[in-house]
Amino acid sequence: MNIYEKKQDINETITSLKREGKTIGFVPTMGYLHEGHLSLVEQAKKENDIVVMSIFVNPAQFGPNEDFDTYPRDFERDCHLAEEAGVDMIFHPSAEEMYPADGGIRIVAGGQATELCGASRPGHFDGVLKVITKLFHIISPTRAYFGMKDAQQLAIIETFVRDYDFPVEIKRVPTVREEDGLAKSSRNVRLSVQERAEAPIIHQALMMGMDHYRETFDVSNTISLVSQMIESCTGKIDYVSLLAYPDLTEVSNGTDQVLLAAAVQFKKVRLIDNIIMSTKEG
Ligand code: PAJ
Repeated sequence: MNIYEKKQDINETITSLKREGKTIGFVPTMGYLHEGHLSLVEQAKKENDIVVMSIFVNPAQFGPNEDFDTYPRDFERDCHLAEEAGVDMIFHPSAEEMYPADGGIRIVAGGQATELCGASRPGHFDGVLKVITKLFHIISPTRAYFGMKDAQQLAIIETFVRDYDFPVEIKRVPTVREEDGLAKSSRNVRLSVQERAEAPIIHQALMMGMDHYRETFDVSNTISLVSQMIESCTGKIDYVSLLAYPDLTEVSNGTDQVLLAAAVQFKKVRLIDNIIMSTKEG
């Protein structure tokens, strides 16, 4: 496994691999790897000749009062895990390497970013699109892999790639969970013992809510039931929402897929999770 810190070095290597006809599967991450990230690698390995992972805690997607400084980092451990999982190349740039200059041009996410996490994290998805644009140019992947755990991020990236003709195929990968149902996240290590014990309630509440919605098709009642269940823990609800996916608009008669999503703020960590359900028969 090779580690690259410079854009030009990894870009040159990938350009020559592509000239030989090799396909490139790309897994963008912020590191502190867990089985969720590694499941993206596993799928990328099945579908491509070469797997490239980026590890970069992207300052552009953190708000001024968010956890950029305390976001967990362990590059050495990440390298071991990535190598074991079969990653061929890691791109690990510094912030100066990624953002050496700023000419003031901005990429702004659309309506999908006004809901859910976008409502409480203004500018977050603009920052994600900024780094993804640069990474797609530097890596020029054949396919790029994103987790359903971050369903809103995935929906916005799919729209961006479609609307702006990025020559890359976006692949959705299901959420990997702990045995008790808690979605794996780099941030889980920052939960206290009590919070860690409480956190699986989020997934349980979402599952219960989706069962209720399947039977009643009652959006507001589903949201209140899920909220009530989550309120039994010490975390504070940021949102519980039920929206059409991937548009992230209100559910209507024509909706094929619904997203039931929640964000809960614990003392040091904000956790998100979701369930997606098809509303079509069969
Ligand atoms: P990060 O939170 O490190 O996640 C990297 C990728 O792993 C994302 O596509 C995310 O959805 C996926 N992932 C995280 N937890 C998962 C789980 N439990 N199961 C399946 N997939 C999971 O998301 C980001 O980084 C950043 O915003 C990034 C896209 C890298 C841009 O900076």
